[in-house]
Amino acid sequence: MGPFSNSMAQNTYLCSQFFHAMKIEEEIVKRRTFAIISHPDAGKTTLTEKFLLFGGAIQTAGAVKSNKIKKSATSDFMDIERQRGISVATSVMSFEYNDVLVNLLDTPGHKDFAEDTYRTLTAVDSVILVVDCAKGVEEQTKKLMEVCRMRDTPVIIFINKLDREGKDPFDLLDELEETLNIKVRPLSWPISMGQSFKGVYNLYDHSLNLFTPGQQRLTDDNINISDLNDPLVDKLVDKRYADQLRDDAELLDGVYDPFDMEQYRTGQLAPVFFGSAINNFGVKELLETFIQIAPTPRPRETDQRYIKPEENKFTGFIFKIHANLDPKHRDRIAFLRVTSGKFERNKFFYHSRLDKKVRFNSPFSFLAQAKNVVDEAYPGDVIGLYDTGNFKIGDTLTEGEQLQFRGIPSFSPEIFKEVQNLDPMKTKQLEKGLQQLTDEGVAQLFVHEMGQKKVIGTVGELQFDVIQYRLQHEYGASCRFNHVSFFKACWITATDPLKLNEFMRRKSEYVFEDKDGNAVFMAESAWILNVMKQDFPGVTFHTTSEFKTEMA
Ligand code: G4P
Repeated sequence: MGPFSNSMAQNTYLCSQFFHAMKIEEEIVKRRTFAIISHPDAGKTTLTEKFLLFGGAIQTAGAVKSNKIKKSATSDFMDIERQRGISVATSVMSFEYNDVLVNLLDTPGHKDFAEDTYRTLTAVDSVILVVDCAKGVEEQTKKLMEVCRMRDTPVIIFINKLDREGKDPFDLLDELEETLNIKVRPLSWPISMGQSFKGVYNLYDHSLNLFTPGQQRLTDDNINISDLNDPLVDKLVDKRYADQLRDDAELLDGVYDPFDMEQYRTGQLAPVFFGSAINNFGVKELLETFIQIAPTPRPRETDQRYIKPEENKFTGFIFKIHANLDPKHRDRIAFLRVTSGKFERNKFFYHSRLDKKVRFNSPFSFLAQAKNVVDEAYPGDVIGLYDTGNFKIGDTLTEGEQLQFRGIPSFSPEIFKEVQNLDPMKTKQLEKGLQQLTDEGVAQLFVHEMGQKKVIGTVGELQFDVIQYRLQHEYGASCRFNHVSFFKACWITATDPLKLNEFMRRKSEYVFEDKDGNAVFMAESAWILNVMKQDFPGVTFHTTSEFKTEMA
């Protein structure tokens, strides 16, 4: 081949690379991948449903709601089974709205599945946090926010249930700032609430959205009010409330800086909206602002370098594994978040942890809640991969590069129990079952170095029922869980290895290994943990398995 044809070939190659890169960039700007999160009962499911109605992904209200685990004390194992059956379908809800492809990742509302939620948050680029206007910031709101803060995830806050009496909106904003440790900026403002709720004033585009009790609104009939002193406002909402709104607006302008996109995108400032999800009120504004301001797929940190979504080469990670409860179908579904380049069906990719090539002939997407086989996927997309046991949570796929994504830590569980094998003939099955359930992230397993003591850690009691049931039905192993009085699992490190060794020797009874062989100290109480910190100043105690940022 002469030099001419060589350069022709090179040009063709460069052109194809160029168009490949252009296509990836085009797809990236179209995507918003996020989750709606809340303390149970604040209105997450209701808001999700309204978004899906707007996006045309569902036709009737109630479609998502009926899938939800009941939060009451009646939650039992049957509820979990029911939930597991349908949760693949609702794990990712993709729909198009105003030419934007929205990927909404579902997070379990039930407190016992909080760990699942934390992991899902590693796969999103932003979140909408729903807060009940009467209850304000609740326990789970704080925890979820801490997880968001670890990765500087941009947050929009939706204050819900304005059709009910709630806390004063200024007090709510103060509470959000104080307890969630984030600056806030209201972008809409309620005019009264409860029985006398009149509507919201959009501080961003200066329009009034009037509330009519019991009316579901899918149309946009906001009234433009460029000047709040316009007498029309008095007519529309009654003079008393109009005056209050004027005072509030003046105060808001004095107290809060104008909305700053950069601060929102870096997770320092949360814009706040008010509304009522059940009445579909304030929801359209929220969705439309979200589409405008929420970030497109963001770069991700790995142990080697930052991965930019627009890179030509594909990378992605597994953040969730869903097992099939049916023993006849032991396949599992691994959820992959694409982080850069283009994922392609039937192409060989590199499984970084196992150091082997893998390919998928029927990966599927979740557009409009149906499982469709996809040929390609782009950054921000989540696809389901059928798995026969190759994947663990946190696994990375690339086009050959050896890397591991950061920001998929394990968090300290809240409930600990020791596993007691009830059938010594089935010890192997028990071990295998525990190993696989841990890989899936159902619970965390801590093994005592010396003996064979195995402790399971979860965030909720329900998981123990799930584990027991699955060990029995899928692995034929039976076990019992015995009480152990641990309060927290702390991953331990020290700059001086001698100090760490000394600690591990002196406290050996309480030092366990996690699934990756890291040393973990099991603290029996907050008091003991403090004593340890004082007695062993050279040792650092972390409450997550990744030590860059700490949860409180
Ligand atoms: P969650 O997913 O965060 O747990 O909350 P979910 O949407 O299930 O809402 C919890 C309860 O709050 C539901 O009532 C729901 O109807 C109600 N709700 C949601 N948004 C609003 C709102 O804007 N105003 C009022 N007043 N209520 C709202 P439920 O009685 O538990 O269930 P259901 O019988 O209504 O289905």
